[in-house]
Amino acid sequence: MSLNLDPLIRPIAKRLHANHMSRLGISNTMRLAHAYNRLKFGRQDDWRRNLYRAHMTPLLEENGGLTRPRLEMKDGWALDRSKSLPHLDRVLGDSERIIAERAGVRRSSHGTYRSYFQDVWTPADLETYPSFLNFVTSSDVLSVVADYLKCIPALTTTLPSGIRFVESNAAFDDQPNHPHDSQLYHIDYYSLPNVYVLVLLQDTTPEHGPWTFLPRSISMEAKAKLHYWGSQRGYRISDEDVYSVVDRKDVIEFTGERGTVLFIESSGCLHYGSRNSVKPRFQLMIGYSGVCRTDFSEVIMTPKVYPVRETDSRLRRMVLQKNVGPC
Ligand SMILES: [Fe+2]
Repeated sequence: MSLNLDPLIRPIAKRLHANHMSRLGISNTMRLAHAYNRLKFGRQDDWRRNLYRAHMTPLLEENGGLTRPRLEMKDGWALDRSKSLPHLDRVLGDSERIIAERAGVRRSSHGTYRSYFQDVWTPADLETYPSFLNFVTSSDVLSVVADYLKCIPALTTTLPSGIRFVESNAAFDDQPNHPHDSQLYHIDYYSLPNVYVLVLLQDTTPEHGPWTFLPRSISMEAKAKLHYWGSQRGYRISDEDVYSVVDRKDVIEFTGERGTVLFIESSGCLHYGSRNSVKPRFQLMIGYSGVCRTDFSEVIMTPKVYPVRETDSRLRRMVLQKNVGPC
């Protein structure tokens, strides 16, 4: 049995994590966190990578197989407007019920972090609405994410929250007309890479404050020029700074019809969202990563647990149970 060092390092990890890793800078903290997580989860990481390389095809088959041509993320992203991904229809139908039941009511109190953005998902929804986990674990979705991660993905259990059902609403914003927090450009530091699958739950236009990003190659160039993630830089970057090194014409807004899906590496693409959502935006946000993260969130947070059944495929169980595997 391996020694659990988490209680010992928790106080240090909390300090290093505070204020978006400002104490040592994001890059330095990520390196430290990755080294620690490699000690804890290195064998599981190797196991998932080997399974991806040698057995992905039978794992996908056993999980229901692919139902359509495989999508591929290029330059950090892929967009699917076909509305043909499995279980998507059911997800959209169930989402209408959730929106009708919970939208438009501000759940958090004023002055809280990200007042303009609220997650209305509850853990009970996993059982009440099985369509979401069926979509999250479908072979068509997982093949895209796994090809990008080069390993069997895990649904994130800490940061970002694995499944979020998000309402963005300018009416809730404590500081309207003044972009702040995740309304400003940043690159996520949780894991390298971290992939989001984002689903528009209602038709979305620029008035809804869409998720907005720059392709990976452009983002990486800007990151280097701005010394972003360095110890002298904060986590959020102003538009002025970004557009001093990036052409505005390269910006992509995730807009479109209900059911449009974006696969994106949020750890590689500069992005922001929920900026001035004068019309409420409803979006599903699903987070996937490998098992060796680049943050200390698993040391300082209680990881989420997802329901698993005996009849679930091996692939589905690996996605929903991050820490299964050789130990
Ligand atoms: Fe982000």
